[in-house]
Amino acid sequence: MSSGEEVKIGMLGMGTVGGGVARLLERNGELLAGRTGIKLTLQRVLVRDLSRRRAVDLPPQTYTTSPDAVIRDPAISVVVELMGGIEPARTLISEALKEKKDVVTANKDLMAQHGRELLDLARRCGRNIYFEASAGGGIPLIRPLKHCLVANRIRCIIGIINGTTNYILTRMSFDDMDFQEALARAQELGFAEADPSSDIEGRDAAYKLAILAGIAFNCQVDPGELYIEGIKNVTRADIHYARELGYTIKLLAIGEEKPGGLLLRVHPALVPLAHPLASVHDEFNALFIEGDLIGEAMFYGRGAGALPTASAVVADIIDAVRSRGRGEGSPHPGKPEQKKLLPLSVLDSRFYVRFLAQDLPGVFGALATAFGDEGVSLDMIIQKRKKNGVAEIVLVTHTVSEERFQRAMEKALRLPTIRPEAAVFRVLE
Ligand code: NAP
Ligand code: HSE
Repeated sequence: MSSGEEVKIGMLGMGTVGGGVARLLERNGELLAGRTGIKLTLQRVLVRDLSRRRAVDLPPQTYTTSPDAVIRDPAISVVVELMGGIEPARTLISEALKEKKDVVTANKDLMAQHGRELLDLARRCGRNIYFEASAGGGIPLIRPLKHCLVANRIRCIIGIINGTTNYILTRMSFDDMDFQEALARAQELGFAEADPSSDIEGRDAAYKLAILAGIAFNCQVDPGELYIEGIKNVTRADIHYARELGYTIKLLAIGEEKPGGLLLRVHPALVPLAHPLASVHDEFNALFIEGDLIGEAMFYGRGAGALPTASAVVADIIDAVRSRGRGEGSPHPGKPEQKKLLPLSVLDSRFYVRFLAQDLPGVFGALATAFGDEGVSLDMIIQKRKKNGVAEIVLVTHTVSEERFQRAMEKALRLPTIRPEAAVFRVLE
């Protein structure tokens, strides 16, 4: 074993990501010690079930069901929270900070909803919280935004930041898998949450967007105020039509600085096949950033999974140990600016709509009139005949305000020949 300062770690949770950290230390611990001069040892690990088989065989006395055995152990200097959820994670992190431990966490739910309060507590305790793995898993996003791009005024961030939904949409697109089959596969592969509703309904991406936007735009973001729409309404038919029109469908998390405030939203969108985000497939994530100095940049990689996420967690631990060695306190000196969150109604966008209509003369014209009357100009139109006299009409509008588009839709859906179950998605410019 390489020599190096031995640093004892306490871990709260040893599931997918915790198991990844243990495997990483087993596999690359020596390499890490050689490179950093720091030898990380898992001293105590909190779990719920002591009888459960773990990814790595650690000495049995390492495991405990007592949080105090981890956070109050004087030999431990860094506590790594990998339990997930709000409580008891929030209380245990607070206690660990008060015990003068630095904290590393991958918990986006917690950091999005209570990050500011925990960062303030860390500052008061003279300690740090590191949360690189909470958004984008193994891809460095938080450190580049916080440090490397700090001189930029960020204009927008556009991310594919949920691996489960990207995997589902990719498999639906390339393998014609249905939604449930693709979701089950994502769960087997370990990147869908045990309860995948947060992934599917877009909340997971919204939490990550709240964290990233807070850093990119230097403000505090309440994830409860974001516009969120999940992927439940995306069908294979829409994916096929999108492709025919030169697009792919992705769940996007978008943050833009606009005059008067920030517009933050998570929703499925048609992405032009030529856009760099269109080629982000499977569980891969990417964040596209536009800054006033750097122009466009994109970060790409694995946003979930045991080892990629562990890679970010362990890098944070090393950062914590190094900062401690330099006697540094909290690394969040800037005061967040007050920024207003703008409503979706300020958005101008192109829209994709798929209508089901009776295949009768004049239907097409009536639809075009409904849109035209509201000043919504149509860019592309496809009509396909389905069974039993039902036609599928797909159209893409030119850029229009959200309000004007909604008025046109209300008018179109009142037409007697148009069925009420239309699919609507925004189109990335
Ligand atoms: P997980 O597989 O469900 O593991 C959770 C671990 O925490 C388990 O070992 C569990 O113990 C332990 N635990 C939970 N509640 C506990 C309690 N009240 N007392 C004691 N132990 C408790 O979760 P995960 O997928 O590793 O995710 C961990 C965190 O990383 C979450 O915040 C998640 O959002 C985040 N994250 C995950 C991924 C990913 O790819 N999975 C990627 C990025 C970020 P038992 O094993 O005994 O049940
Ligand atoms: N469930 C999350 C995802 C895990 O699919 O992206 C990583 O945060």
